[in-house]
Amino acid sequence: MDKYSESLTPQKEAISLINYYFKKERHGDHHARGQAKNEFLKYLIKTDDGSYTLKSDEINGNFENMHTSHGAITESLEKFVKPSNLNKKNNIKVLDICSGFGYNSSTLVHYLGADSNSDIKLCLDLIEISIETLAAGLLVPVPLETHNIIKKAIEEKLIKEKFARFHCEKGHIPSNIQFNIYSKDAREVVQNLDSDYYDAIFLDPFSPSKAPELYTVEFFKELKRIIKNDGVLATYTSAAPVRSALVEAGFHIGEGPIFGRKSGGTIASNSSNNIKKDISEADERMIAFSDVGIPFRDPFLDLSGFEISKNRSIARKKARGTYKFSSAVKAPIFIGKEIEMDRWGRKVVRNINQLHIDDLKSKNALYLVCCQNESCYCGCNINRISNSRDRIKKMSERLFNLRNVME
Ligand SMILES: C[S@@+](CC[C@H](N)C(=O)[O-])C[C@H]1O[C@@H](n2cnc3c(N)ncnc32)[C@H](O)[C@@H]1O
Repeated sequence: MDKYSESLTPQKEAISLINYYFKKERHGDHHARGQAKNEFLKYLIKTDDGSYTLKSDEINGNFENMHTSHGAITESLEKFVKPSNLNKKNNIKVLDICSGFGYNSSTLVHYLGADSNSDIKLCLDLIEISIETLAAGLLVPVPLETHNIIKKAIEEKLIKEKFARFHCEKGHIPSNIQFNIYSKDAREVVQNLDSDYYDAIFLDPFSPSKAPELYTVEFFKELKRIIKNDGVLATYTSAAPVRSALVEAGFHIGEGPIFGRKSGGTIASNSSNNIKKDISEADERMIAFSDVGIPFRDPFLDLSGFEISKNRSIARKKARGTYKFSSAVKAPIFIGKEIEMDRWGRKVVRNINQLHIDDLKSKNALYLVCCQNESCYCGCNINRISNSRDRIKKMSERLFNLRNVME
């Protein structure tokens, strides 16, 4: 079995339709692509800004859409393009991971005005595991003119791969934009990319519970290697294991813009100057102290999503109540705070007692979170640490040390 064969991709029926019509095109049918465009519409779901999305294939009896229902193109703009801070540069290299229909790339070209008579030099590298999904980018109606450029680049790739045969797309690729399109597992591709190269990385897989293989410590270490020191990685998710994996890989992290959900996405960078907003105090504590902060791991970048999730579940179970607080009770959030001693309050205290901490305001408890305070109140004499990454590392190191002393 192909070691990468288990990735989650779009809905099977839509993929079959694409395969059917592109096979006809390969056999010489000039009308096949037009017919595919019409037929494909029935699988598309309109999002709030009028752009379309498609369901994923089923996973454990479940599915999710490729884009938010609040607006697929708007999400590209708000969560990926704007926070990447590219508008002050004019020689720009971007890696679009899980490029799907190509929305993030078309939105970027539109936003930068890099489409015509532009002095911006843009190198756009797209990675999409499913060639049929790349082909879907030619079939989906997109309100942005710049999508025609992406379509042309995708068409060239499909012809090169002998998936398509005819040059039908009307767009043209301006000389200032250079494309590399990879139809492979992103884990395999990134290992062969140059170090210190990208100004921005858009990371847009399905959610961490469904595609954990693209949110592991080891994958992020590769992204850290290939991004420039002042580069920005943007992803839509705020999930704790994703943020903790970014921290463990060495990235600074911050809260991305909020769009369509309660919490913002995540911004990561080698440089803390690129982080405009830290993640919340509560999120830092949950990542540092509780089992929800145990990251996904994939030591050789070749495990299936199922194995990665299973291994993390085992690690979480081992950690709960022994060297991490149970995330279900959210005890870390209450450290140093007043809490009502009702049923919940008693549960919180029982939870911290498991790790040999007497109460929420004991010296040991305050020592754990001291680096989040403006000035020390536990006697350790450390001032507030200035960024989320280093606070998370310090707090998790303190819990580890405290436990070793108590054992
Ligand atoms: C949430 S969608 C991305 C939407 C996309 N950015 C767009 O503009 O339409 C996730 C995409 O990741 C692709 N994918 C899944 N696993 C992958 C992997 N291991 N490597 C590269 N792409 C992958 C899926 O086929 C799917 O198209």
